Amino acid sequence: MLNEEAAGKAPRTSLHGHWSSRMAFILAVTGSAVGLGNIWKFPYIAGENGGGAFVLVYLLCVFLIGLPVMMSEILIGRRGRRNPVATMALLGEEEGHSRRWRWVGALGIIAGILILSYYSVIAGWTLAYVQKSLFGVFTGTTAAQVDTIFKNFTGNWVALAFTHTLFIGCTTLVVARGLERGLEQAVKFMVPSLLLLLLALLGYAITSGSFAQGVSFLMTPDFSALTWDGVLAAMGQAFFTLSLGMGAVMAYGAYLPKETSIAGASVAVVIADTIIAILAALIIFPLVFANNLDPAEGEGLVFVTLPLAFGQMPGGVVFASLFFVLLAFAAWTSALGVMEAAVAFLVERFYRTRAQAATMTGGLIWLIGLGTVLSFNVLAEFKFLNGTIYDNVDYLTSKIILPLSGLLITVFAAWVMCRNSTADELGGAGSSYRLWHFLARFVAPAAIIVIFLQAVGALG
Ligand code: TRP
Repeated sequence: MLNEEAAGKAPRTSLHGHWSSRMAFILAVTGSAVGLGNIWKFPYIAGENGGGAFVLVYLLCVFLIGLPVMMSEILIGRRGRRNPVATMALLGEEEGHSRRWRWVGALGIIAGILILSYYSVIAGWTLAYVQKSLFGVFTGTTAAQVDTIFKNFTGNWVALAFTHTLFIGCTTLVVARGLERGLEQAVKFMVPSLLLLLLALLGYAITSGSFAQGVSFLMTPDFSALTWDGVLAAMGQAFFTLSLGMGAVMAYGAYLPKETSIAGASVAVVIADTIIAILAALIIFPLVFANNLDPAEGEGLVFVTLPLAFGQMPGGVVFASLFFVLLAFAAWTSALGVMEAAVAFLVERFYRTRAQAATMTGGLIWLIGLGTVLSFNVLAEFKFLNGTIYDNVDYLTSKIILPLSGLLITVFAAWVMCRNSTADELGGAGSSYRLWHFLARFVAPAAIIVIFLQAVGALG
């Protein structure tokens, strides 16, 4: 086999050390994957796209596209052992192609900055909801009151700008200091606690009276409710929720020890992420139907249904505060990873200090984020292309840039890299390798291209 030893070189190692264990890697990737995407975004876009059929397409996208793309990202990351831009350039050259593949890494960094710009605003909402929960604002409220609380809050641009600033400020501070060990600890406790709390909420949702209706909304596919744009949304969500298409997972892969199974770790992460998203939806939709709310309510869905439920249950103040704290935490661990990618690149490329690079990136993200802040109030009626500024940033990232860069990454791994290199990383040419190779070569690229062209109407 043509690995580094055979070529007479020492095995490549990362400058930043390696994960302490296989579990540490899985937790780190899961911490990046589990975030607002699972709990806030998945239920609201599933609701907007009619439920069942969307969920089915989403699951297909996660396993047939997301999983092979994730394995491709990790194997590229581990082989290159550098930041995504440098890794793509290095492997492009090493595999006898071109250093220009580095632009794929660069595309990811642009996507990361754009994603964080609105991610930070929504994470700010969770911070504000921690405060509202602690003050018992939701106790005994009706559906109409909770809706008014949400509309009044998002209608107030100063409040949104404040919480957005708070969130991106904290993220910038931590990234500037390079606090990685603390992160591993935080994730270790955060993901399991979130899971436990979600299970408790599921228990509540089951007794809410409309559980069957919620389940049937999610599990009965009604394909007439699904458009090609909905299919594109499902695919974009698969990329978004698994943190794919912007080199985040690639960067983590760079620290993965050689013996760890990439397929095993990827499957673990994908399953954990999917369980959390489905759990969130199983909690939200029964509550939606029990309270005669609209499943297609949009960005506010989680912020209206859950406080309503918390307001009615015993111990609701504690549950609500705990839930929004954990959600803010989950958002934070995801945001740190996205920002780290951009900062690591700036540090290595432009020789700035971490603090300078983080301040510049944080400032830029903050500025762009003001567009999302204003999308819910002052500029709510200012619509172009796909809607408000927020709608456009979301469309551009989830539905265009992430699938495009995911496509390029997979094509690189499955077509440009030679079989010896990929089989070396994926542990030999057994059946799991052949399955990956088939999915990454044909199924994922074809699906991404067809879904994209259908959605923009190019196939008529
Ligand atoms: N996956 C995270 C979520 O579901 C968001 C996220 C973190 C992300 N890192 C990313 C999305 C990288 C795209 C790319 O909330």
